[in-house]
Amino acid sequence: MVSTKTNMKLLNILVIGTGIYVCGRGTDGYGTILPAIYEWARCGSLGDIYIVGAHIEGINTVKSKVAKLNKLFGFDIKPKYFPESDSYDPEAYEAAIRKIPRPACSIVVVPDNLHRKIAGDTVSNNIHTLVVKPLAPTVNEVVELIELQEVHVVYCAVEFHKRLDRSNLKLRDTVVSGRIGNPLYFVVEYSQRKSIPEKKFKSWIENTNIFQYLGIHYVDIIYFVTGAIPKRVMAVGQKNYLSSRGIDNYDSMQVVVEWEMPSGALFSSVFITNWIDPESSSAMSNQRIKVIGTKGRYEADQKKRGICVTSDKEGVEEPNPDFCSMYGFRNGDISFQGYGIDSITGFLNDVTMIENGQLKVEDLDCKRPTFKESIVPTVIIEAVNRSITEDGRWINTTFEEGRFSGYE
Ligand SMILES: NC(=O)c1ccc[n+]([C@@H]2O[C@H](COP(=O)([O-])OP(=O)(O)OC[C@H]3O[C@@H](n4cnc5c(N)ncnc54)[C@H](O)[C@@H]3O)[C@@H](O)[C@H]2O)c1
Repeated sequence: MVSTKTNMKLLNILVIGTGIYVCGRGTDGYGTILPAIYEWARCGSLGDIYIVGAHIEGINTVKSKVAKLNKLFGFDIKPKYFPESDSYDPEAYEAAIRKIPRPACSIVVVPDNLHRKIAGDTVSNNIHTLVVKPLAPTVNEVVELIELQEVHVVYCAVEFHKRLDRSNLKLRDTVVSGRIGNPLYFVVEYSQRKSIPEKKFKSWIENTNIFQYLGIHYVDIIYFVTGAIPKRVMAVGQKNYLSSRGIDNYDSMQVVVEWEMPSGALFSSVFITNWIDPESSSAMSNQRIKVIGTKGRYEADQKKRGICVTSDKEGVEEPNPDFCSMYGFRNGDISFQGYGIDSITGFLNDVTMIENGQLKVEDLDCKRPTFKESIVPTVIIEAVNRSITEDGRWINTTFEEGRFSGYE
């Protein structure tokens, strides 16, 4: 079918996952994926929406959020839900894939250790696929996913939304222009509240850590900004607060990466991460990046974006207006805006253009965070996960003609 709004083929969307990022499970909000689909539905050529979880509780949460969003937006979306019964079914997505008519795309939003299997199945069924970061925790898994993408020639990207944050775009322009000279070192600090490991990610905490979950965003940003490849990686961490609460995971991880620019120049980056910030912290994410170059520096406090709200009920809050926020208008309309929304709507626009013959999959190579661009972030994740269990040993990475060839 063709949309009367856009004259484009209607796009069917498969969302796999029913958690915080999809719908704001366990929060007062609506997550990012669902609001972005509503925003896209205003002018995109939306067909059917399929939403898949592993159990009925997750589906019920999404249903209640959809009911509220239908009211807020003033128009209805009517997803089809899987599993249809109240049994636990981690393979329900396979039934959904079989039912979904083409053209179709999928957004995979499940715990990291399931990305390879589930995204591999969507790609193998010729479905354009967006996977939340990180693409996978091991290089082998990323290589397998790239091979599948090449066989099936579908558009495959990783949802690295920080590439669309204007604060990071300005960072990239500053470095690329040469204004601050050759980078010597980057410093990244990134942390979140302790309820993330203690409550929100409790069911899959053993399959991630704070560097893999948060630090990886800025690994991708440094790669995006410099085009450099990692030469060696070391990591240490502390198990203190979380282990005292029965959670065997690091409170904080500190990582050093030495990189080589395409010019051959070397620089370092230091990542300092934790997820045991107090619940009373004024923002969900405490995040900043700076780079010192031979001719200057660029510093971005990405927590303090200039807004501070103080109230009897909530205390002091410093919200991020740029990621995924709901804005109200005088006529009663609402709109979700920010780089989180843009990242999803951008993927849906790209897929629509591909399906309507206006763009080829290969046109997006080097322009988007494709699966191929995820080799470097995952090389670093895997090296960090090795180094931290080997007492902070430096892990050397080797690249031959720009292609990763192994660790030493
Ligand atoms: N929370 C965020 O702000 C955020 C932002 C960007 C990326 N991510 C990434 O999104 C992914 C999920 O994070 P989340 O915050 O939504 O976690 P979450 O724990 O809230 O949700 C995970 C969801 O996956 C579902 N799931 C598990 N196995 C499944 C299966 N076999 N089939 C279908 N669904 C299944 C669970 O039911 C749950 O709804 C992670 O990779 C995370 O790094 C999260």
